[in-house]
Amino acid sequence: MLKINQNYLNLKDSYLFSTVARKVSEYTSKNPGKRVIRMGIGDVTLPLCEAVTEALHTAVDEMSGAETFRGYGPEQGYDFLRAAIRDYYARRGVELGEDEVFVSDGAKSDTGNILDIFSRENTVLIPNPVYPVYLDTNIMDGRQIKFMNAGEHNGFLPLPDESLKADIIYLCSPNNPTGAVYDRESLGKWVAFAKANGSIILFDAAYEAFVSDPNLPRSIFEIEGARECAIEFGSLSKTAGFTGLRCGYVVLPRTVKFQEKELGALWLRRQTTKFNGTAYIIQRAAAAVFSPEGQEQTGRQLAYYRENAGIITQALSELGVWHTGGAHSPYVWLKCPGGMSSWDYFDFLLENANVVGTPGAGFGSGGEGYFRLTAFGEKQATIEAMRRVKETFR
Ligand code: MLT
Repeated sequence: MLKINQNYLNLKDSYLFSTVARKVSEYTSKNPGKRVIRMGIGDVTLPLCEAVTEALHTAVDEMSGAETFRGYGPEQGYDFLRAAIRDYYARRGVELGEDEVFVSDGAKSDTGNILDIFSRENTVLIPNPVYPVYLDTNIMDGRQIKFMNAGEHNGFLPLPDESLKADIIYLCSPNNPTGAVYDRESLGKWVAFAKANGSIILFDAAYEAFVSDPNLPRSIFEIEGARECAIEFGSLSKTAGFTGLRCGYVVLPRTVKFQEKELGALWLRRQTTKFNGTAYIIQRAAAAVFSPEGQEQTGRQLAYYRENAGIITQALSELGVWHTGGAHSPYVWLKCPGGMSSWDYFDFLLENANVVGTPGAGFGSGGEGYFRLTAFGEKQATIEAMRRVKETFR
């Protein structure tokens, strides 16, 4: 008889953002007249910029002409996009080889799929709280998981120590959900720790474009030694509004070798077997993001979201609510007022302000008592949401 993957029984019933969406939909169907403002899942609201839509139109036209039509593309991405991503890194002083960039349909799939190339016997170290995909995908594989506590005591940026030895180490900077960003010195400590213990760092850089301080690293490959022990995950979802288009990339240097094997070769083998590449049209759109016009236009979108983050943090400061993030991140992380639990505050805000956020506990036990608001909404809606949040304090 068929046996199911028993590890799935160890997962929570539903994925964090599905639970949030279900609760909101239950609330709106019971209260049809209420105008709910969504600041929960980090989904963008600005439309695609002109450089991207022009590239999409051109690519669609190409696909409709017999001479320019494309079928299967290279699984690791077209050269034009891989070159554009390498140039993007080179502009920040990170030189990558031609075969060190792998294009995909997003960082969520990549961070989950990369686990295929690692033994299930490996131990895993995951920040707590953090983006829930790292934990859930490792539970699915049945790996042994250790947590590193991120809290106010360490600025939500845990550093390595001997008790944290593990084979696979997840880092996310700027962090989802807290918005905290590692500086070069701290990342250097992680790289030295990984090298000393024969570990790999899986570095989620999905929010790197929000870093506005040039002294803060946006890629782990800005750190010496990382080319031997790290894999980086990039995404255009938040940078360029690709949450619906889907495009991301993995940077895996050829120098990352374990048991004398290049991990890049294993990843290529995995991708060529299980993935048929990102759509040509989407890759053309992605390449446009890295063009000078695309950088300028998406830069304006990032500035818009940053302004929203400023509106949120200012309101919280006025209320005297402890918060962090928002400066180099689209997420603002706050302490639930009155000692409320994360889910209680979620219900409270939904019912009393018709504002949706994400309960910190959904990112791990370390997030209990905290709450995340995103700056990806429309500006007027963000202003209105914070006005309503202020009202709840009166
Ligand atoms: C989030 O809200 O944390 C993200 O939008 C989820 C994701 O990128 O998958």
